[in-house]
Amino acid sequence: MASNILEVKNLYANVDDKEILKGLDLNVKKGEVHVIMGPNGAGKSTLGNVLMGNPNYEVKKGSVKFMKEDITGEDADKIAKLGMFMTFQNPIEVPGITLSNFIRSAYQAKFGGRIRIFEFKKKLKAAMEVLSMDPEYADRDLNVGFSGGEKKKAEILQLLMLKPELAILDETDSGLDVDAVRIVSEGVNAYKKESDGALIIITHSTRILDSLDVDYTHILVDGKIVKSAGPELVSEVNENGFEAYIK
Ligand SMILES: Nc1ncnc2c1ncn2[C@@H]1O[C@H](COP(=O)(O)OP(=O)(O)OP(=O)(O)O)[C@@H](O)[C@H]1O
Ligand SMILES: [Mg+2]
Repeated sequence: MASNILEVKNLYANVDDKEILKGLDLNVKKGEVHVIMGPNGAGKSTLGNVLMGNPNYEVKKGSVKFMKEDITGEDADKIAKLGMFMTFQNPIEVPGITLSNFIRSAYQAKFGGRIRIFEFKKKLKAAMEVLSMDPEYADRDLNVGFSGGEKKKAEILQLLMLKPELAILDETDSGLDVDAVRIVSEGVNAYKKESDGALIIITHSTRILDSLDVDYTHILVDGKIVKSAGPELVSEVNENGFEAYIK
């Protein structure tokens, strides 16, 4: 049996002295697709931020193991280097750094050494084609003036280039038009096929799941996972809402 690449045990975390995660457990194995659903404010984005080592969040109790290393309270840089990646619900704009340069730095940090510019551009162009992105975006400042959907695509582009061992997608599908959802799903599928990476997909909609094989669905309410099941749980939630899971 494959071993876990991510092991979250009894995790408690605070932001601004407010307790948000309250005893959360989660295990993910190589190549698995996990969906996390839950009401607004339940702590889904917080979970992603805590896993990624965002310094604004304080782990109070419990532990996180990733790629066999204890990463509880570890630096974001180190966690990213180990192969964890997250797309953000609201990607930030970074004036002065082009999309291409940003991904190249991240690529070199992840894989070590330098990649020749010609070789890099070729790879980038191919990945942009998968996402139907205009190649001109590579030379634009990261996310500056990008539409909501373009920002999300730029994040999936990073996913395709960096091939992380674990990718956390935080509402990557929100605000995307139908064509963009399809394209982003294709991008996610291409990442899965090329790297056998694991995914944690945080979502309120199910359109992005239509073309993905989901292994587990979890319901996160008030800082902990209150129910875990197979893919069928997604439609159960869609029909009945979260009411039944809120005590
Ligand atoms: N930086 C922060 N400062 C203050 N409160 C925060 C911060 N980050 C999160 N919170 C609070 O933590 C709680 C959980 O927020 P979180 O963003 O994790 O929810 P979510 O499950 O992702 O919700 P949504 O479905 O709306 O995206 C909320 O009450 C939120 O206000
Ligand atoms: Mg959120």
